[in-house]
Amino acid sequence: MYNRKDHYYKKAKEEGFASRAVYKLEQIQSKFRVIKKGDKVIDLGCAPGGWLQKLSEMVGGKGMVAGIDILPIKIKCPNNVKFVLGDINDEAALGATIAELGGVADVVVSDMAPNTSGLAFKDCYLSYELCMMALEVAQKILKENGNFVAKIFQGKELDDFRLELRKYFKKVNTYAPPATREGSKELYLVGIGYHSSAN
Ligand SMILES: C[S@@+](CC[C@H](N)C(=O)[O-])C[C@H]1O[C@@H](n2cnc3c(N)ncnc32)[C@H](O)[C@@H]1O
Repeated sequence: MYNRKDHYYKKAKEEGFASRAVYKLEQIQSKFRVIKKGDKVIDLGCAPGGWLQKLSEMVGGKGMVAGIDILPIKIKCPNNVKFVLGDINDEAALGATIAELGGVADVVVSDMAPNTSGLAFKDCYLSYELCMMALEVAQKILKENGNFVAKIFQGKELDDFRLELRKYFKKVNTYAPPATREGSKELYLVGIGYHSSAN
């Protein structure tokens, strides 16, 4: 049965994080080491701000994190974090986010999710569309050899997205972090070693 206030929810509250999603990012990081101290990271779909808090720690004082979301965040941004309120499809908002980062990104992460309708085929398609948008952002600003993380709902489009990523990354991993809610259909695809020319 779905338990909104599960172990990770309580842990996030106790530790002062804006969302339980931080533990998924932490698990992705300990398995794939996608982020290094000093990195510049773009966080797509960053509200309420849990990943921003965790990314701030991961990149440290010499790194920078820029997040964008159509919803406001619920955290006070640390010094190395900037936030832009807007849609990633809005060129001005995306441009402002890239400008806040101050240069090409070492890593692009997307925890974006659509407003779910309850119709699995529709929600999976919308999630896939967000992933393709995240990849487009990466193609604009990710440095050669950079890394990429995107959440996708498991549906018939999953294989298509994985194949698309394989054209641009040396290695593509599929991962369900243990902190994922029981019964959830979401997975993360982790692209390591970006190259701008497709295979
Ligand atoms: C699961 S939440 C992200 C949680 C976040 N990682 C955290 O730790 O707090 C997904 C977010 O994606 C955002 N989102 C969905 N579509 C978007 C779009 N087109 N542009 C920007 N943000 C979007 C939603 O507004 C929502 O806040």
